Amino acid sequence: MQRTNYCGLINEEYLNKTVTVKGWVNRRRDLGGLIFIDLRDREGIVQIIIAPDSKCFQVAIEVKHEYVLEVTGVVNKRQNPNSEIKTGMIEIVADSITILNKSAPIPILIDDETTSETNRMTHRIIDLRSKKMQHNIMLRYKLTRSMRNFLDSNNFIDIETPFLTLSTPGGARDFLVPSRMNKGKFYALPQSPQVFKQLFMVAGFDRYYQIVRCFRDEELRADRQPEFTQVDIETSFLDEKEIRQINETMIRQVFKEVLAVELPEFPVMTYKDAMYYYGSDKPDLRLEDFKFIDLTDSLKNCSFKVFNEAANLTNGRVVALKLPATISLSRKELDDLGKFVGNYGANGLAYIKVNDITKPDTEGLQSPIIKFLSTDELSTILSITKAQNGETILFGADSAKIVNEAMGALRLKLGHEKSLTTKEWAPLWVIDFPMFEYDEKTNKYMPAHHAFTAPKDEHIEILNTHPELCLAKAYDMVLNGSEIGGGSVRIHDAAIQSKVFTALDLTIEQAQQKFGYLLDNLQYGAPPHGGIAFGLDRVAAIMCKSNSIRDVIALPKTTTGQCLLTNAPNIVDNSQLQELSITVTE
Ligand code: AMO
Ligand code: AMP
Repeated sequence: MQRTNYCGLINEEYLNKTVTVKGWVNRRRDLGGLIFIDLRDREGIVQIIIAPDSKCFQVAIEVKHEYVLEVTGVVNKRQNPNSEIKTGMIEIVADSITILNKSAPIPILIDDETTSETNRMTHRIIDLRSKKMQHNIMLRYKLTRSMRNFLDSNNFIDIETPFLTLSTPGGARDFLVPSRMNKGKFYALPQSPQVFKQLFMVAGFDRYYQIVRCFRDEELRADRQPEFTQVDIETSFLDEKEIRQINETMIRQVFKEVLAVELPEFPVMTYKDAMYYYGSDKPDLRLEDFKFIDLTDSLKNCSFKVFNEAANLTNGRVVALKLPATISLSRKELDDLGKFVGNYGANGLAYIKVNDITKPDTEGLQSPIIKFLSTDELSTILSITKAQNGETILFGADSAKIVNEAMGALRLKLGHEKSLTTKEWAPLWVIDFPMFEYDEKTNKYMPAHHAFTAPKDEHIEILNTHPELCLAKAYDMVLNGSEIGGGSVRIHDAAIQSKVFTALDLTIEQAQQKFGYLLDNLQYGAPPHGGIAFGLDRVAAIMCKSNSIRDVIALPKTTTGQCLLTNAPNIVDNSQLQELSITVTE
């Protein structure tokens, strides 16, 4: 018999109708004669009821967990409705049951929160049957479909790019693939289709997109996989603002279609402000009001050595984070927070508990640092932080790098643990990134985004005199504290490109060797162009409220880059290595 309905989609509309469903046995209960089976398919669960006098009672007794069944019966109103599930008002009175296949006992429990992630990933196919994974994978599909629809209807065309290619810029290590036919030579898997999409603009395709796998051999984390998916976009003739606008429209439309969420218009924040107020280039604005209060300038002459020294460092800063009076931290909590910031290199976490704002001394304030500060200095701190009775002020003082990292992490930890969030969704653009980052190891400037990112028009002149001051036409889209996309306007002018290579200390020959095929083609009438790439896995994870992108990837890898389903990577036959002229030394 053909299936008439998905299990999870049957509702009261079907009352008294005969339906045929096919699915997996989620649960079977034998209630002294009556047998209940919860049958599951990708849309959900439906209850099947089998009475002792039913002709399929005998088959129902044989049925076990995860058996595959075909069930035909009449839809009946349930005596005891279950409001937890979509089909909770009805049940199917089985008229016939066919066992389409048996199942061996399954190695992990489905939908069991206590199953370890290693076990889930080893038995991933069974794990994918869980409610959570079915939901996540379906949502990811809807997200991809929605993005594709938007891009298609805005005249973007999908063009594929090679996977077996030359090393592409991306800032990570390449995955290499040896070439059998070209002994001793290697392809690199692309870290992104960056160069190709720029070349498509030169070729005149004008608006390109691709939902494409990218490969980066880097340290893996909850939001990083060695292969991940980008929604890669490039356009010609649009400026920075116009590119942001169209991509913001897309993300807003996608949220509406997939989650029925109306995102607000995205605020735009400079990189400088993001670092100043949040210590991060991807600020979590769900905690918008919980931000750094900078005390660097006010504490340059302060008598407390820790503050004074940090405030006078070339690249130092002193910041405060102020907790509202509703939150009181115990001594142990404060000690633990001190250890927490220690993980980010901070030497301590000074604090002041404000009991009575009118008494800026040991009487009104509780703190191990009062003895190091004068009443005037304490008053200044209270006044700049606008402290109120009952509030706790936490301080970080060190190099800006350590303060930003340590206090930034503390802000996120406390903000979320103490429920200081003011909104569920907080998107924003971070713009005006620096062009270059200084690499202490090589004593060279590196591109902060990539070498083809255009500088701000007003900074072209100082590219080679003051590279540290140059800002780029680069932008990131940030959502709930995660960088979900990044892009830039590209350089289409050979003279500016050459200045950038000079700033990067690359000779024309070296640049030619690395990116010759791009530079050659940029000569032939490259249009002004720019684009962006979204991390699809990250967008999906945020939409699913998941902490790890592994939860939105059907077959992900572990943090050591292994696939526990297939056991890749693995050793290969010697004959394969010989064909490639490769010897493994260890
Ligand atoms: P970028 O390197 O910023 O830009 O990457 C774009 C987006 O991809 C996501 N992402 C990742 N997601 C999961 N695992 C990873 N290892 C990983 N690395 C990056 C992030 C990031 O914002 N070619 C440029 C884009 C451009 O300029 O158009 C690029 O690749 O969400
Ligand atoms: P100390 O004089 O080292 O005992 O420090 C006094 C107080 O200042 C302690 O509460 C420390 O946790 C705190 N402290 C020390 N170094 C720093 C720092 N770099 N930033 C913030 N607080 C600090």
